[in-house]
Amino acid sequence: MTMHRVGLIGWRGMVGSVLVERMHAEGDFALIEPRLFSTTQAGAKGPDIGLATAPVGNANDLAALAACEILISCQGGDYTEAIHPKLRASGWNGHWIDAASALRMKDSAVIILDPVNQPVIEAALAAGRRDWIGGNCTVSLMLMAFGGLFRANLVEWMTTMTYQAASGAGAKQMRELLQQMGRVSGAAAELLADPASAILDIDRRAAAALRDREMPIEHIGQPLAGSLLPWVDRDLGNGYSREEIKAGAEGNKILGRSGTPVPIDGLCVRIGAMRCHSQAVTIKLTKATPLGEVERILAAAHPWIRIVPNKREATLACLTPAAVTGKLEIAVGRIRHLAMGKDYLTAFTVGDQLLWGAAEPLRRMLRLLIGR
Ligand code: HSE
Repeated sequence: MTMHRVGLIGWRGMVGSVLVERMHAEGDFALIEPRLFSTTQAGAKGPDIGLATAPVGNANDLAALAACEILISCQGGDYTEAIHPKLRASGWNGHWIDAASALRMKDSAVIILDPVNQPVIEAALAAGRRDWIGGNCTVSLMLMAFGGLFRANLVEWMTTMTYQAASGAGAKQMRELLQQMGRVSGAAAELLADPASAILDIDRRAAAALRDREMPIEHIGQPLAGSLLPWVDRDLGNGYSREEIKAGAEGNKILGRSGTPVPIDGLCVRIGAMRCHSQAVTIKLTKATPLGEVERILAAAHPWIRIVPNKREATLACLTPAAVTGKLEIAVGRIRHLAMGKDYLTAFTVGDQLLWGAAEPLRRMLRLLIGR
């Protein structure tokens, strides 16, 4: 097998680090000739990936980048916008795999989520496409959970109400969330230590801490610990947050049905979880479908689905960010019909935002390219 030269850019950031960890764990580095690039650390030693690598290259050196057949960027949208057009204009015809959203909705780009849209990816490869972009984490996790129902043409429309973790906002926000938690807890520390203290006194301390000027909010912008934020990303000025338009737009693009889109819409909410995004969905089915059949279809979609029985104990043990964090499994539970009829389904899903929501589709696209 010929070794492909693969350049990695942005491997020091959170998504990049998870990607490197996963590539290391899956033995991907042994199959490629890796080149590490950085915008700030050119010449430095790269991370430990279990084999010797050349010194880190300059991520703004177009010629060095162009010497790679495949480039994977976790550097962010600004880098993509600055470098990708120049590389293409210079005649570079390699494969560009990217975690950032910058190119996602361009006609030339394919949103990659192979357990859901392998046929879309294969068709694009056959058509000579070269830009492979990871989807928005929330959308990817939603389709990893419910892709089977879309494939079976069972979804007439869907709402998804999200409970998004701090990691989706960034590493600094994750740190700040923990600092906020510490601050709220610390404000009531001596009362907490006294079992006889009054809960309303504790609550007053916590509420005061949340509104206190000392509360660290530099990165998140608001207290998130002990609260939640029902707005994720920019205000588009039409009642939608930028996160909310992605469900329908990216979701249908991933499914390869932008021409005949299924309505997918809902509210996106940030909660105080670390790295698992959860979503509660309502699905209007195209026909009344027994729950057993729904579960069979969901479970058969791909190997990472974990159906959680709609029982209290199983749900609380397996369908939470605490249970799923750091795992590749996509937990789906609370599956039942709604009072509106047997063609209305509700369900809840939890997935790790940094794995299937970010790094995993990128490394699997790399595997697909080098395995051809
Ligand atoms: N935009 C998402 C979030 C993460 O803020 O949670 C990246 O897809």
